[in-house]
Formats: sequence, structure tokens, C-alpha cells
Amino acid sequence: MLPHTATAADRLQQVFAYHQATKHQFHAYARSPGYLDWATQPDPFRRYSGARLLALQKIRPADEPRYDDLFTPRRMPAPAPVDLQSVSQLFFDSLALSAWKSAGGTSWALRVNASSGNLHPTEGYLLCGPVDGLCEKPMVCHYAPREHGLEVRAEFDAALWTALSAGFPEHTFFVGLTSIHWREAWKYGQRAYRYCMHDVGHALGAISVAAGGLGWQTRLLDELGTHDLALLLGTSVEHTAEREEPDLLLACVPARQPLRQTALPAQAVHAFQTLVWRGGPNHLSPAHVDWGMEDIAAAAHKPHGTSAYAPFAQPPAPWPLEVRPVSLRRTIRQRRSAVAMDGRTRLARDTFYRILYRALAVPDAIPFSTLPWKAHIHLAILVHRVDDIPAGLYLLARDAAQTPALQQALTQANPWQKPPACPEQLPLYCLLTADVRAAARAISCHQDIASDSCFSLAMIAEYAGPLKRYGAWFYPRLFWEAGMIGQLLYLEAEAAGLRSTGIGCFFDDAMHEVLGLEDRTFQDLYHFTLGGPVEDQRLTTLPAYADE
Ligand SMILES: Cc1cc2nc3c(=O)[nH]c(=O)nc-3n(C[C@H](O)[C@H](O)[C@H](O)COP(=O)(O)O)c2cc1C
Repeated sequence: MLPHTATAADRLQQVFAYHQATKHQFHAYARSPGYLDWATQPDPFRRYSGARLLALQKIRPADEPRYDDLFTPRRMPAPAPVDLQSVSQLFFDSLALSAWKSAGGTSWALRVNASSGNLHPTEGYLLCGPVDGLCEKPMVCHYAPREHGLEVRAEFDAALWTALSAGFPEHTFFVGLTSIHWREAWKYGQRAYRYCMHDVGHALGAISVAAGGLGWQTRLLDELGTHDLALLLGTSVEHTAEREEPDLLLACVPARQPLRQTALPAQAVHAFQTLVWRGGPNHLSPAHVDWGMEDIAAAAHKPHGTSAYAPFAQPPAPWPLEVRPVSLRRTIRQRRSAVAMDGRTRLARDTFYRILYRALAVPDAIPFSTLPWKAHIHLAILVHRVDDIPAGLYLLARDAAQTPALQQALTQANPWQKPPACPEQLPLYCLLTADVRAAARAISCHQDIASDSCFSLAMIAEYAGPLKRYGAWFYPRLFWEAGMIGQLLYLEAEAAGLRSTGIGCFFDDAMHEVLGLEDRTFQDLYHFTLGGPVEDQRLTTLPAYADE
């Protein structure tokens, strides 16, 4: 653990060392238990016993709004009033259960937000003023997904709410996320912090999309430091159960309302120290193994303060896409990972291009408008089965201004060429035409889903530059951006009648070698695959809630 006197440089060194140590290599996986210790399997549901539970509504998905309406600001639904129904809908469409699965006498819940190993380290919070039908007093609540309810952890007076939300548009409220690293570390050991941060990104994407369906936009309140978040969400309260590490707070505001500030007044934040916090957290496992999660999380703690993020020099240009008759909420709630791909399904070229366009951080468009920094992640795509373009290696520069830097860093590539009929809005280049199925499979820990799909991809982050510029605390943010891309790709796959899967298990440096990346300028943070799924017939599916 770093001493309290650790400098920013020490923290950065620790993050670099953690990243290096948690790479999977062909000859050795990152340190992990290597087996599943069922006796200490963590409870996937945190509850605060003693806290009052407010029931939320379960709302059946309808045809409207359409999925595609969400991504064009002028077609977004009109802002819903903030009340019991809309707040229920927000959680139902983002962090709620989506189904129960059972096989061989065991059953497990799936959720709207994807999670590595289905371990769900991410916990959700609501921080709000009075809400019609839900609460008369301002409050901080923990979201309980199994019950689809809110546990009231603290209530406070109207004056504090007014002070906290001063300067934000009327009807603003806040959503917080925390992570229980132990849930992932139990299975994945040292590499688990990365997966927890991917999962935060998936949850961020899910919340942003769900909010968009209600005509709201979300924005990360990134001036807040980790210590501020712990005060606001009550995670600084002492207890003996597994730690919840605070990650972030989002403002949820009616879309089309200008958001002029993203800072919360320090005095109001500090007043949360004096609140009475109700309920105590349950213990998730009877015993634990220390995989160094607290050390890396402490190194990546964010100090309080504004960050002068580098602006987008060349934001993606608008590309009006056709609106399909696809229900937003059905797409959200039917999202699932493919456990196997069929090795046959082909993707139409236009669908491929539109999926990639959606992965760009188009200004003001959901979900990436939640993040205050410009895109730092680019996609190295291994194309297997897309009509009318050759199989091979492609690169999507999510910040087109980075194209020269990428061209210089990816030393393995042939001359970069735009693929056939590629729209000018898409900074997509073909680097190599070849059958890349064997490479895709090998690099993604020999998983067939990476080669039996239409395409798989590696998320290549601008790494050393942003970390040196902003500090060690930006490390988790790179994973948040990756996870958000992942959640969006999951939804794009569903909307196209296909399926996808996040791939956290990959050989980092092997992928770097394929691309010819020779230093830390760029690093591979996450893999993904999309194609025609093969359903597992052994599983039975049950509804998420008995009274749905
Ligand atoms: C960060 C992350 C990493 C993942 N890595 C893998 C992987 O390497 N292999 C795999 O088959 N599935 C992987 N998955 C898929 C999860 O196992 C899946 O999301 C989880 O079981 C929940 O199922 P669902 O997505 O259908 O809700 C990953 C998912 C996430 C979010």
C-alpha cells in the first residue's frame, strides 16, 4: 500500500506496475486463485438491513420510444417528469434484473447491465430531492436489484438539497456508482480491478441509455474526488462487511436544458458527514483473500478538483441513420451475452458501418456525452464475416485527430486504406486483408466466440499520454470508456438481431504484437465480439420478477 505521503508520480508508477503485472501472457495468466472456492462465493446482492425499502414499479417494455431515436438529440423523447414511475423506469432499464436462468438445480440472475463473470461488483445509488410518489424528503438510497427497490440510507432537509443542487437545472437528480472489488477478485484475482472498472463503464452506458429513453441526459460530475463521493454515498461509514469503493456521481437532467456547471458546492458535500446513515451492509463471504484491490484502488483515488481535459480536435461529423422499428426498452431488457457464436452468420456491410458509427463519441449524443473527456479509445477490428468487405484487420479511430499517432504506433500495418463504400463520417481503415480467425481466437484466451463471430475487436486506449497528463486517477476512467463502448455494442447487436459478448480475458502483449505496438503509448484494454449466437438449450429462463 502506498504511504499517505505518496506523490502523484508514485501513484502513476503503481498504476503502470499494476497494469503490467495483470497482463495475461501466453505462458502465464495474471495471478488468480485458479479455481472457484464455492465456500466463499460472494453474495451477488448487497442489502442494508435496517434501511427502509421503497418499492419501485416494474414497467413492461412498449414499442415506443424506438431504439434509434435515442441517438439523435432532436428525435429524443420529451423529458419525462421526475416521479415514482420515471425513476422506477430508469433503474428498471439500467441496473435491474433482466431474467433468472437455471440449470442442474442452480439458478442465477442476469441483469440489464453486463458484468464480467456475472459477478456484478457495481452498486447503484440515488441522491435526490423530493420526488412525486417516491419521497417527500431529499434522500440518499441504495438500489436493491433483486427487489427492484430503493433502500433509504439517509434523509436530509430541503435546505441541504437546495445548496447541493444549486446551479443545476430544475428536476436534476444524481445517480452514484460504487464497486465491491471482492466480488470479482474472488474469481479473477489480481486482474479483477480492471473488470470492476469495465463493469462501471457498462453500468454508466446502461444508465445513460435508460435516461435517454426518458428524455434525460447524464453527465459525469468529475470535479468530485473519491473522498467527496464517499461522503455523499455513505460509503465512508465504518463497518466490517466488504468495502464499497465509490466510483462516480452522475447528474441526470432533462435533455435540451443547458448544463452550465458540473461542480457541487464543497460545503454542501461536507455536510453529508453529519447525516444519520440507516442500515448496515450484509457480509457477502465468510472469508476473503487479499488480491491487492485496495492498493490499486487507493493509487487511483481521484483528488478533488477540475480537470482541464483536452478537447476533441475533430469530433465525428453527423450521419443521419435510418430509424428502425425496434423498441428501445425491449432491446435493453433482452440484452444477453452470447455463450457461443455459430461461425456462419454474416453481417451486411451497411449494418457493420452503422454499428461502428454508433461507437463514435458524437457530440451531445448518448451515451458518450456523459463523459467530459474526448474519446481516448480506438477499435482494432478483426473482421471475419462481413459482406462485401474483405476479412482482415481494420482500425476505427474514434478520435480522427489521433490517426497520425496511430499510424506511427501501429508498425505492423500496411498502408491504411478506407474500405469499400465506407461513409466519410467513419474514420475506418483497412490495415491488412487476411483470414484473422485463428489470431482472434488465440489472442482472446483461445475463446471460440472471438473467431466464430462476424467480427471481434480490441479496444486500444491512448494510455501513457492521458495518464501522465491527468494522473493515476484517469486509469479507471479509460476502462469506464471501454465498458461504455461495450454496453453500446451489446445494444447495437440486439437491435441488429444479433448478439455479442464482452471479452475481458485476452493476451495483452500478444495483441500489441499483432498491431506492432512497441511501447506504452497505446494499450489494449478490452475485447468484444459480435455475431450470430448459438443458444444454450440446457438453460431454463424465468422472468426477472414474479410480479412483472
Ligand atoms: C468486462 C467483461 C468481461 C467479460 N469477459 C468475458 C470473457 O472473457 N469470456 C466470455 O465468455 N464472456 C465474458 N463476458 C460476458 C459475461 O460473462 C456476461 O456478461 C455475464 O455472464 C452476464 O451475462 P449477460 O451479459 O448475458 O447478462 C464479459 C463481460 C464483461 C462485462
